[in-house]
Amino acid sequence: MSEIPLLLGRDPDGKDVRADLADAYHWLITGRTRSGKSVALYTILGQLAGRDDVIVAGVDPSGIVFNALGQQLGGNSWRVQTLREASRCLTVLTDLVEMMDARIDDLLALGLDKFDDFSFSRPLVLVVFEEYPGMLEALKGYDQASGAKPVDRVSGKCQSAILRLALEGAKVGFRLVVCSQRGDASILTGILRSQLAVKLTFAQDIDGVNMLHPGLDPALAGMVCGFEPGQGLIETPNQGLTMFKGDFLSYTGLRRIARNTNGV
Ligand SMILES: Nc1ncnc2c1ncn2[C@@H]1O[C@H](COP(=O)(O)OP(=O)(O)O)[C@@H](O)[C@H]1O
Ligand SMILES: [Mg+2]
Repeated sequence: MSEIPLLLGRDPDGKDVRADLADAYHWLITGRTRSGKSVALYTILGQLAGRDDVIVAGVDPSGIVFNALGQQLGGNSWRVQTLREASRCLTVLTDLVEMMDARIDDLLALGLDKFDDFSFSRPLVLVVFEEYPGMLEALKGYDQASGAKPVDRVSGKCQSAILRLALEGAKVGFRLVVCSQRGDASILTGILRSQLAVKLTFAQDIDGVNMLHPGLDPALAGMVCGFEPGQGLIETPNQGLTMFKGDFLSYTGLRRIARNTNGV
């Protein structure tokens, strides 16, 4: 089984907080604006640069994160860097679902229940949604402007594709990372949220914290609301819940790593 180790930061005792991207879970990164979501994403991506067993796909409405990666981690073919052409979002997501379906066929043909060995020929596919709510709004705006009938709307089709990737993709090497200010139902349907088992929760209002971590000690939940940028909770199925301070990788740092790493 492959290991794709990530160092995310330190817990309050100064111990390393790690996660293995090869573990078959999707991720949800939430927090108010400037709470540390994008930096957490840079930290993750910076550690993947140079790997030939991971590709990075997804939708980055502002294009900034993917622009830093350049041709690293699979290049641009699976990435949407602007929503000026919302139809490209649907094309890329449809292609990803097709790749997933082909892998599911392989899995069944081989009589396996999951793929957990990743390589150049069958890489782990990290599907990043930086600014998920912004993507949804842009797609809905596109549908309104085009006057499409409900069945033809790209927003609904894109959301269906994302849900399929979330529900069926983990066993064949797809990992979603959804970044959002909040995790509530107006943004993430309950069924999608329930699939995002690794949660990085940065500062946000108390209702958001409680919804993401039901049963959390009220004193701790209150602390999260006042966390500084980069301070958060991490909850994973394997390691439970802990406070942590995320490692800092700047945007220029990510760019430098991506540029200095030989493209594969
Ligand atoms: N782990 C961290 N350590 C130190 N400072 C951080 C950290 N994460 C974020 N910051 C600070 O907060 C700012 C906003 O972080 P960012 O990740 O862009 O927020 P978001 O994506 O949630 O809007 C960063 O530019 C940086 O100054
Ligand atoms: Mg951000």
